[in-house]
Amino acid sequence: MEPSAASPAAIARPLVLGIESSCDETAAAVVAGDGRILSDVVLSQLDDHRIYGGVVPEIAARAHVTHLDGLIRRALEEAGLGLGDIDAVAATAGPGLIGGVIVGLTTAKAIALGAGKPLIGINHLEGHALTPRLVSGVAFPYLLLLVSGGHCQLLAVEGVGRYRRLGTTIDDAVGEAFDKTAKLLGLGYPGGPAVERAAASGDATRFSLPRPLIGRPGCDFSFSGLKTAVRETVAALPRPLSDRDRADVAAAFQTVVGAVIVDRTRRALDMLPAPCPLVVAGGVAANGHIRARLQELATARGIDFVAPPLKLCTDNAAMIAWAGVEHFKAGHTDALDLKPRARWPLDTEAAAPGAKA
Ligand code: KG4
Ligand code: ZN
Repeated sequence: MEPSAASPAAIARPLVLGIESSCDETAAAVVAGDGRILSDVVLSQLDDHRIYGGVVPEIAARAHVTHLDGLIRRALEEAGLGLGDIDAVAATAGPGLIGGVIVGLTTAKAIALGAGKPLIGINHLEGHALTPRLVSGVAFPYLLLLVSGGHCQLLAVEGVGRYRRLGTTIDDAVGEAFDKTAKLLGLGYPGGPAVERAAASGDATRFSLPRPLIGRPGCDFSFSGLKTAVRETVAALPRPLSDRDRADVAAAFQTVVGAVIVDRTRRALDMLPAPCPLVVAGGVAANGHIRARLQELATARGIDFVAPPLKLCTDNAAMIAWAGVEHFKAGHTDALDLKPRARWPLDTEAAAPGAKA
């Protein structure tokens, strides 16, 4: 949905201001109770981190401090609202880079206290998990494939706050594998979009890569072996790499990832008691090849497939504001002493000690 300002009286309540700062995007948004996105402002710090080939936590935290106030002001202005018009302030309270999470959550607490509004701390993963409901109103339950730079999970989403993890990565997240592959191929950062672009003109059959865990029971993921195989494949190629070599490796990698994701998702669907919609979220959900493969799977199974528009796949604050709307409607708000968390699994029962999230 395109952002659109409207008079507060005509808008579905609650009106929630959302703040996101858990990685390298600083973002603020205002979303209404019916899912209208009144504003959605995202400042990507890509240029600050590019020369390091990845996100530098300290640089990210400082950039959030510099930009967040201005972005919140812009989000309110674009929505045509003042702080007095909103019903709650929602901010990512984890998991993520702790410096950034502290900046966003502390800012949200200050606004909540100053404006006399309730605070809602949102799990960043829940923001991704509930986004399909913001864009299509899909009903619970659904199977969520969450694929991003830090996460790779299959979750049964049974209701707001009710998430059952069916599978997760036993080593790296799939977005990390995209980023690493891009780095090995000299395609730059962030890797996902660059690998997808290169793969478009590549021959996926020239190189043979392992297909980790395909055919194995359960629906966990593993990408470290694939990453190693890409490194060895690239190391065996003559220097400098040609565009053809880059495209062919990228295509082989993306094809394997698509096959792995489809295999694992098919098994997760089999673990559910009844057919339900399949939804995908997280930055890697922006990948056209992976979306197409998932659509094929859903069509074969006769279930709905929901993929958010690209802008809502990667990190943004509209998803945090929307998760805030869902929690507010359910009567959940948080005290002002809410703690920021670097780690915060969505399914606390399934989370192994030391798991990434
Ligand atoms: O959800 P997100 O914005 O941040 C996290 O919470 O991690 O996901 C970022 C990840 C990065 O690894 C990026 O390379 C990947 O999503 N990504 C993609 C594409 N666009 C972003 N991966 C594959 N294909 C894409 N088109
Ligand atoms: Zn994310």
